Amino acid sequence: MQKLIIAIDGPAGSGKSTTARAVARELNYLYIDTGAMYRAVGLAVLRAACEVDDAHVAGLLSDMSIDLERNGDDQRTMLNGEDVSGAIRTQEVAEMASAVAALPSVRAALTKRQREIGQAGAVVMDGRDIGSNVFPDADVKIFMTADAAERARRRVAELHGRGQAADFDVVLAQIRERDGRDAGREIAPLKRADDAVDLDTSGMGIAEQNSRVLEIVRRKMVGKKD
Ligand code: DC
Repeated sequence: MQKLIIAIDGPAGSGKSTTARAVARELNYLYIDTGAMYRAVGLAVLRAACEVDDAHVAGLLSDMSIDLERNGDDQRTMLNGEDVSGAIRTQEVAEMASAVAALPSVRAALTKRQREIGQAGAVVMDGRDIGSNVFPDADVKIFMTADAAERARRRVAELHGRGQAADFDVVLAQIRERDGRDAGREIAPLKRADDAVDLDTSGMGIAEQNSRVLEIVRRKMVGKKD
């Protein structure tokens, strides 16, 4: 079996995690949500209530263990042995994840871990900088986007689905702010790799975006028969 490295990058709400998970399931590959690793660091920083700068966060990182465990088709995120898969899915943690993701110490530590986990292949990794920085030689690179209003609508529907209140304008403003921070930082910003395939999922259903990505992957597999 071919053991490709498949990188799916894009902004928050573009649908990349949903599709990355589905593609991994279909191919029996390992799914790695790298955003969850940044979220785990964000959660640790919130709990420690420390300054968000390299001097403080690098100290925390040195005693921090972040592990991703396979959980059926999904992954479980462990922080110092504690399952934080649910705790990292809040807006507060998302914002702190985006803030700590700009720190050089955090990027260096997590990029190293991601390379160790993914280097054997047979992996679908989603994030912001996988195709541009973590695995610049990935076999398949997809850059998924959707317009901000569509991403906000999806997010509101997801929150309502979980019984949580959500205001479209507030969610849209949060999405725009996070986009700006993730794309504007100095190190490994959210950026389309030159050789990535673009996929705009605005107006696309989940089934369609999954099959578009699988088609791109299968084409690559045929071309790379070994
Ligand atoms: O994909 P997500 O929303 O769970 O990611 C949370 C934050 O982590 C995101 O706002 C930016 C950061 N991140 C990153 O900088 N690089 C990655 N490869 C993945 C996420």
